[in-house]
Amino acid sequence: MQESPMQEMQSPPTATLTGRPVISATGLFTPADSISNDELVASFNAFVDRHNAAHADAIAAGEAEALTYSSAEFIEKASGIKSRHVMSKAAILDPATMCPRLPERPNDELSIMAEIGVAAARQALERAGRKPDDVDAVLCAASNMQRPYPAMAIEIQQALGIEGFGFDMNVACSSATFGIQTAADYIRAGNARSVLVVSPEITSGHLNWRDRDSHFIFGDVATAVLVEDAAIAPVQHWDILGTRLKTVFSNNIRNNFGFLNRAAPGSADAADKLFVQEGRKVFKEVVPMVAQMILDEATRLGIDPEGLRRLWLHQANAGMNRLISHKVLGHEASEDESPTVLDTYGNTSSAGSIIAFHQHSDDLRAGDTGLICSFGAGYSAGTVFVRKVA
Ligand code: COA
Repeated sequence: MQESPMQEMQSPPTATLTGRPVISATGLFTPADSISNDELVASFNAFVDRHNAAHADAIAAGEAEALTYSSAEFIEKASGIKSRHVMSKAAILDPATMCPRLPERPNDELSIMAEIGVAAARQALERAGRKPDDVDAVLCAASNMQRPYPAMAIEIQQALGIEGFGFDMNVACSSATFGIQTAADYIRAGNARSVLVVSPEITSGHLNWRDRDSHFIFGDVATAVLVEDAAIAPVQHWDILGTRLKTVFSNNIRNNFGFLNRAAPGSADAADKLFVQEGRKVFKEVVPMVAQMILDEATRLGIDPEGLRRLWLHQANAGMNRLISHKVLGHEASEDESPTVLDTYGNTSSAGSIIAFHQHSDDLRAGDTGLICSFGAGYSAGTVFVRKVA
């Protein structure tokens, strides 16, 4: 992970506000443990053997279907994923458990989702040279919340010592870009000077690790983006040139978990209370929608898409990103033009494009223009065009 030295604050937060939103800094928390495709597939195949042995009679009688092995080669070829970080490796890999085991904490302890959000947020604040009491709001923008209330954002706000307000928002894989636009709108309206958008994604909790079609997709992480008024931003920052959001209803990525329909873990009806998708349909429908959205927004902003220095795209599938970046740039994108973090992080839902931005933006020069773009369940998609200032 690249680290920037803590910056001097350019001006006190009492400076006259401009109403122009910028990204002052980002932060990243990465769990220490990681699961390789080989480890994952060995565990999955051990589960398949156990399942088929336990149901051998029904399978032999044609009353039940035998489960099929997964394959590390398929996973890498179909998705570009080689490994993923997780918060609870041993339990996920145990063929008898195959889901994270994160013990519940007492109410007077910081909850785990807040803890990793705070770690990412602290790094963003440090990199911006910002004190917590200069921040006005915290948005916790993620695809799963640990509980309905009190809001994760308010717990993160309290742990950081931030006054003002916080609230949670969930737009699945697009949560972070929707959070950035919301924060930018607070700045544009003069309602805040400094807003933290925190995306703690413990996606291992919504993944069905027993489902061959999707067991390899997700990983855990937390990111933070500090959106501020240009008047108080540190010297090094990114102007937000424009933000755009889009949603179109689709059942092709769905999770029916909710407070009205709890299912016992492992029960037959538990599978649809986890992440379920029609991967092929998502691929086919989302690629053209997102490419067109980017091109339309570039036109609206007067930006030549072929002149974009870098695309920090949502990290769900390497093939999707290849197609989208080709349509936007007009040629096959190099790793430098459209970096991937999928290989080591897997799909981290809303955090993916922010990890890519966090790890692959320090080398850009002042004046370079790039695009942060997310897409996913809903369907939802968000674009944030940015230009490096210093
Ligand atoms: N190991 C080995 N083979 C597997 C497998 C696994 N784990 N999972 C599926 N396969 C097999 C299937 O059985 C199928 O075999 P068949 O052709 O003999 O029927 C073949 O691989 C292709 O399966 P399919 O599901 O069509 O794969 P795919 O090429 O579409 O890749 C995804 C699957 C999920 C990687 C891909 O569709 C994708 O990434 N889509 C976009 C998803 C997305 O962005 N979602 C947003 C989430 S936020």
